[in-house]
Amino acid sequence: MIYGVFSDVHGNYEAFKAVLEFFRRNGAEGFICCGDMVGYGPQPSECVREVMRLKNASVVLGNHDAALVGKLETRWFNSNAVAALNFARKELSGEELSYLSSLPETIRTGFFTLVHGSPRKPLTEYMLSETQFSENLGCWEISPCFVGHSHLPVYFRQSGGSAPETDFLMPMGKLLLSGLRYMLNPGSVGQPRDGNPRASCGLYDAGRGTFEIFRLEYDFARTQRLMKDAGLPQMLADRLACGL
Ligand SMILES: [Fe+2]
Repeated sequence: MIYGVFSDVHGNYEAFKAVLEFFRRNGAEGFICCGDMVGYGPQPSECVREVMRLKNASVVLGNHDAALVGKLETRWFNSNAVAALNFARKELSGEELSYLSSLPETIRTGFFTLVHGSPRKPLTEYMLSETQFSENLGCWEISPCFVGHSHLPVYFRQSGGSAPETDFLMPMGKLLLSGLRYMLNPGSVGQPRDGNPRASCGLYDAGRGTFEIFRLEYDFARTQRLMKDAGLPQMLADRLACGL
């Protein structure tokens, strides 16, 4: 089965529509969402509703989703993030809030593991180093392990007996998940932070054991206009143009 893998939509419905259309065109029959459907962006309700509509979807709770439904304190969130959460709280319906409340922090299937941050700290740890990858190896079994949270399209892998490796995932570079343990981050749909403003997502072919990253153009100027209309912080809109 081919899975559409995505993370950190963050209320950016324009970007999410482009990603869903891409998945449809490429025959995705299952979906893997690494969390954070809300926060930052102007259309959190539309994004949650689209995720709820997906068939064969595995979806975990992100830290922004958790904060929105009172499962995580906002003490560590910056003021822009808190402002966007306060906006999202007014936008979501009761059904959408209940859906977020029902999501697990970790999903384990026969084909993959799924968390938002890391296996040992699903809501809070940013996977950024080989050391963290090594420290987390005892907390998950089935490879690949999909993560989000950092908004960076990267992979980590256990390289035989030697030190683990990490690198950025670039478009046109299909990864063969051969025997080793992999941790894969599809990057962010709605707020990329790797200097590339295009929406990031991935395709995981569980039968062939491959993963590939894709970057998609979308109308970020429209998202910026909607953010302005919603009274969201200007800085959150500005960063969409440069992907930082
Ligand atoms: Fe996020």
